[in-house]
Amino acid sequence: MSFHDELNQKVDKVNNLLESVLKVNAGFADYLMEAMRYSVYGTGKRLRPILMEATAELFRGDAPELPYFMAAIELIHSYSLVHDDMPCIDNDEYRRGRKTTHAVYGETTALLAGDGLLNFAYETAAAAFNDTKDPVKTAGAMKILTRKAGIFGMVGGQAVDVDCEKNKNPLTKEKLLYIHENKTAALIEAAMMIGALLGGASAEDVKKMEEAASAIGIAFQIRDDILDVVGTFEELGKPIGSDADNDKDTYITLFGFDKAQEDVKMYSDKALSIIESFEGDKSFLIKLVESLVSRNK
Ligand code: IPE
Ligand code: IPE
Ligand code: MG
Ligand code: MG
Ligand code: MG
Repeated sequence: MSFHDELNQKVDKVNNLLESVLKVNAGFADYLMEAMRYSVYGTGKRLRPILMEATAELFRGDAPELPYFMAAIELIHSYSLVHDDMPCIDNDEYRRGRKTTHAVYGETTALLAGDGLLNFAYETAAAAFNDTKDPVKTAGAMKILTRKAGIFGMVGGQAVDVDCEKNKNPLTKEKLLYIHENKTAALIEAAMMIGALLGGASAEDVKKMEEAASAIGIAFQIRDDILDVVGTFEELGKPIGSDADNDKDTYITLFGFDKAQEDVKMYSDKALSIIESFEGDKSFLIKLVESLVSRNK
């Protein structure tokens, strides 16, 4: 099977998983569940759950806890996008090829849909305890997920991102790296660390995967900054020029366009050399990371 077909199959699998998890009735609050579903669906690449599964497969792969955490990380990522798009943050009207949640349902519902998704994510991940023979390992996965999603991860990165932009606090190179490492790399680290842990990796190998994922995440966000300048709405499904409209400093405004693309390659190569040092079947994971260097969506 070609890489492209294999990837599409994995995207379909994640979409089915998300649909089954979100197919619940929430009574009087069901209008909120509807907004939550809307926020998760659309043309999402499902990169984080796919990375999680591919990392688990590199070790053993058939962990029963895996689907719970694959769904949970995509729910958290989706909530982060709902809030990121709101008028008080990036003020964007399109995401995943359609109107953003606040544009369709209003700001109040978007705020609550984000809150709902975050908590539903933890509820979904916690259900893995019903299906595990190794509660200590499952607790370890919960610990990674909760830490990397919060102030020591994605939320911390978003906080420094908006602080520099809205409060005009100067963005140094160190701060930009902090932002990229946290707002974007942290969830990718969580995905690959949890995949490794559930797949049976040693603590040392989980740490190595964290390093690889950090490099993938930084490369991914630099490429996102590039696509905000040279991408197309049709491919990205979100507006281009959002950073410029917000007067935001990015990897490109700080380092220039050529250095940005060079560094995407540099960080990806760093990740690939770590992944290649593992014994198991890593061919899909390698192709996936390679494909991200020149992605257009
Ligand atoms: C967008 O993430 C936000 C960033 C971290 C750059 P993705 O590019 O993975 O968005 P979806 O999930 O495919 O919509
Ligand atoms: C957002 O970074 C990362 C998140 C944690 C949501 P961006 O603001 O650059 O992401 P896009 O470009 O809106 O997808
Ligand atoms: Mg943003
Ligand atoms: Mg944004
Ligand atoms: Mg962006």
